[in-house]
Amino acid sequence: MEQAIYQELPAERMEEIEGLFAEIRKEFKGRADELIPMLQRVQRALGFLPEQALLEIARLTRLSAARVFGTATFYAQFRFQPVGKNIIRVCRGTACHVKGSNRILETIEEHLQVTPGQITPDGLFTIETVACFGSCALAPIMVVNDSVYGSLNRSRALKLLDEIRVREEGLFK
Ligand code: FES
Repeated sequence: MEQAIYQELPAERMEEIEGLFAEIRKEFKGRADELIPMLQRVQRALGFLPEQALLEIARLTRLSAARVFGTATFYAQFRFQPVGKNIIRVCRGTACHVKGSNRILETIEEHLQVTPGQITPDGLFTIETVACFGSCALAPIMVVNDSVYGSLNRSRALKLLDEIRVREEGLFK
């Protein structure tokens, strides 16, 4: 069976979406031209755009669901599947490839036991690949959430992941 593009937020996270939309109703006026900023706001908070959120945005902006879904799908920045708490993006552009980004990616995949697009069972990580970050002078590049790490090698990449895990597990501040 073909997998649906859009995914619902699981029932145990419904409170999150309700709280988020209580804030969105205060922050936005519900105008049609606020559609993109609203989509960005939801993705920042939830990590992706669940189906319920898209329908709620359609109600708030009085735009058709088709328009909201269509707009969201048009922009590459939006995601429709859940992601891990930390997004690890490995560059596969030419400059990074030449400097060994494939080996870094393989090492990370083995270490986390996931392939790009999957979430680790603890929900901490998702790996993604990107064509080029535009920082080729620093190749090979890895971006962890919004932080760029350049001139990487495999052991430094693994150290970064371990540091995140330790931080997330609250073992040190
Ligand atoms: S090829 Fe990796 S940043 Fe350009």
